[in-house]
Amino acid sequence: MRKYTSKELRDAWLNFYKSKGHIDIGAVSLIGDGTTGVMFNVAGMQPLMPYLLGEKHPKGTRLCNVQGCVRTIDIDSVGDESHCTFFEMMGNWSLGDYFKKEKTAWSVELLTEVFGLDKSKICSTVFAGNESAPRDEETAGLLQGLGIKKENIFYLGKEDNWWELAGTTGTPCGPDNEWFYPLNDEPCCDKCDVTCDCGRFVEIGNDVYMQYQKLEDGYTPLTNKNVDTGFGFERMLMFLNGLKDVYKTDLFSEVVSYIEEKTGKEYGKDSKDTASMRIIADHLRTGMMLIGDVNGIVPSNVGAGYILRRLLRRAIRHAKKVGLDSKELCNVVKIFIEKVYDQAYPNLTEKKDYILSEIQKEVDKFNKTIETGIKEFDKVVNGLKRKVEFMKLNNPEYQETEEDSTISGKASFRLYDTFGFPIEMTIEMAEELGLKVDEAGFKKAFEEHQELARTTSAGAFKSGLAGGGEMETKYHTATHLLNAALKRVIGETSHQMGSNITAERLRFDFACDHKMTAEELEQTAALVNEWIESAIDVTKEEMAKTKAVEIGAEHQFIDRYPDIVSVYSIGDVSKEICTGPHVANTKELGKFVIKKEEASSSGVRRIKAVLE
Ligand code: ALA
Repeated sequence: MRKYTSKELRDAWLNFYKSKGHIDIGAVSLIGDGTTGVMFNVAGMQPLMPYLLGEKHPKGTRLCNVQGCVRTIDIDSVGDESHCTFFEMMGNWSLGDYFKKEKTAWSVELLTEVFGLDKSKICSTVFAGNESAPRDEETAGLLQGLGIKKENIFYLGKEDNWWELAGTTGTPCGPDNEWFYPLNDEPCCDKCDVTCDCGRFVEIGNDVYMQYQKLEDGYTPLTNKNVDTGFGFERMLMFLNGLKDVYKTDLFSEVVSYIEEKTGKEYGKDSKDTASMRIIADHLRTGMMLIGDVNGIVPSNVGAGYILRRLLRRAIRHAKKVGLDSKELCNVVKIFIEKVYDQAYPNLTEKKDYILSEIQKEVDKFNKTIETGIKEFDKVVNGLKRKVEFMKLNNPEYQETEEDSTISGKASFRLYDTFGFPIEMTIEMAEELGLKVDEAGFKKAFEEHQELARTTSAGAFKSGLAGGGEMETKYHTATHLLNAALKRVIGETSHQMGSNITAERLRFDFACDHKMTAEELEQTAALVNEWIESAIDVTKEEMAKTKAVEIGAEHQFIDRYPDIVSVYSIGDVSKEICTGPHVANTKELGKFVIKKEEASSSGVRRIKAVLE
């Protein structure tokens, strides 16, 4: 096995696939562009969705990159050896070009000849087959032909060897071929193979044979047979360097040493301190990436901004826990910017001062929040005292109950949720006053809240990607009409700031410095309905991005688009750069009704509207 630095590994991946005729398309923004409603980029294939579904990619049919991804679904697992909320995915794609024969051969060549893995130890899993797609004998046969041992090839079902974006429809998917390698030669039992959960086998990568599109009630074959590859960068780096902990790779080692130095604590010694150090490192890294992104965001109380706030606040809280002065957090981020990501993410260097100042602002705000939290905590304690006084006043015989000296689950959750006051601090301060905290009650309130949050975010995710349904298509076109109408009613300064579409409604954020009047709202809806009734054709044209800008096509994040873009025109009413999908004629839309107009954030208003 060859050892790599993080910088060398990125190059090794790209150079290998370039040598096989692939073009490096570079990485795109980590943040959803508002047209799909997806908050973050969760997989290397996500920005390539239209091309996997058949649209022509301007750079050709063989592509590769190393793409940053953010997955916050596992945020509570961060603190262990391998979970990260930001990670990079090394990817390569065939868009209807090569298929299983070439891909299996290249994966084996890369793993053995470049990375130096022992072929006799490589394990691979393939799809066992079901009613949607056949058993993948073809891949298994090819692997054997390439020298992978028959006993190291496993057929597994849909839960293991089928890849799709959970909770979506209209998206590309298919059976996959996963790669595993043992960390050591000491099986935990007689049956210790890739299916064993002892952790001896690490999953190092995934080749998806993306030849289906997911529908509401099943799958339909795509015209193109694509390959979608994803190898986890952090995990591969850890593994190639003989490590079992991503926080020991060169992506994190300097940061971890710095935290050790400033806290006087040793990484790996106490499990709680170690988990806190990992959380600080991971969450600050993701926060830095999100703020420094080309479509950078800042902490706020809504959407992606809220997730960013939670990440940063959790890092600050764990800094307090492990005894790292919150003044040091920006120094940690500086190490990432200057020493770790200087080459791969030059945008971070360019925006260094800005990133550091945004993080510092959040640190200051949170420190202040904690002060407010202490005041609220005192109110809760006084409430308990007053209740006892009141009871005694009415009944001098009153015996204090356990409840009288316990901060309820509801109150402690309110402190946590509304005032950002960590439960650990509530417990600590209660103890000092001889009080208890109903921790089980807190946990229950927390879980109920999480369940709600999960359902909501799954819904947002789903709606974002379910771009292909009939109603969503109509709402896409209605959104263009609304954007155009607002420009006429409010003025040219009104432009799109965000959009989210579900099968039930559209939600549109736009720049506007005042609450819209009833008259303005009426005019806007009337204009949209007038255009719908005029039965205008919606047309699509592909052109160079520069040309699209020249002809005045609306756009939100110009840096994100490829060199060749699709421009959708609705007569002379609207022209927008967009990936669609759209209806063919506005008459398909029905009646447009604005349901609500409200503030979204400072200088940004939000309209919710439906088609009836
Ligand atoms: N899209 C595949 C994954 O995320 C490669 O694992």
